[in-house]
Amino acid sequence: MLETVSSLISPPLPAVWPRFAQPLRLGVMASGNGSNLEAIAASIQRGDLHGEIRVVVYNNPGAKVADRAARLGLPTVLLNHRQYASREALDEAIVNTLDTYGVDWVVMAGWMRCVTTRLIEAFPGRVLNIHPSLLPSFPGIRAVDQALAAGVKLAGCTVHQVELAVDSGPVVMQAAVPVKSDDTVNTLQARIQQQEHQLYPAAIALAAQQKFSQAQRF
Ligand code: GRF
Repeated sequence: MLETVSSLISPPLPAVWPRFAQPLRLGVMASGNGSNLEAIAASIQRGDLHGEIRVVVYNNPGAKVADRAARLGLPTVLLNHRQYASREALDEAIVNTLDTYGVDWVVMAGWMRCVTTRLIEAFPGRVLNIHPSLLPSFPGIRAVDQALAAGVKLAGCTVHQVELAVDSGPVVMQAAVPVKSDDTVNTLQARIQQQEHQLYPAAIALAAQQKFSQAQRF
């Protein structure tokens, strides 16, 4: 009988997780639910991802991510974009907050705002995002709807370094899942999210490993 492939992660999840000179100092940015925050925190707690979450920045008052962060004992800072005159002004406040908490790696986990060069240049090559599609297909909002509407047979998620254009920048890791003929946006999204939770901690470790080995070569 043929075996059904339920997911494919590339590069593969680490057999042995890397240890760094000191735990990666992460700042998580989120707008809504926060399940990826929870998965990253769980990975750290298991002793897989060698990191610590210094702060969770969120922009929507009442977002579920704030409750999750509080339950995990993580500091939260609300930066409500509605109270800033421009994207740059918001990013200025974000950078100041991340600096205050000693963050080295910025992890966007469901951050639903466009970012500016102010943030990207403050953390060169150290701003990561997760997107629920196999980029460069289906950037932007409602990526899972877009994939279903296009009739693709494989969907998935991507962790990438953040550049100015939405959902662009070098890919760090991807996970692919099959699309089933009776999938709805909800069922497909759930299958993708399961993969996101495995992918993101591993991709953070890999991005850091790559960055440190690059630095040693120069
Ligand atoms: C994820 O599907 C991610 O790919 C997208 O936003 C969603 C965030 O989910 N960028 P959660 O808030 O981590 O549950």
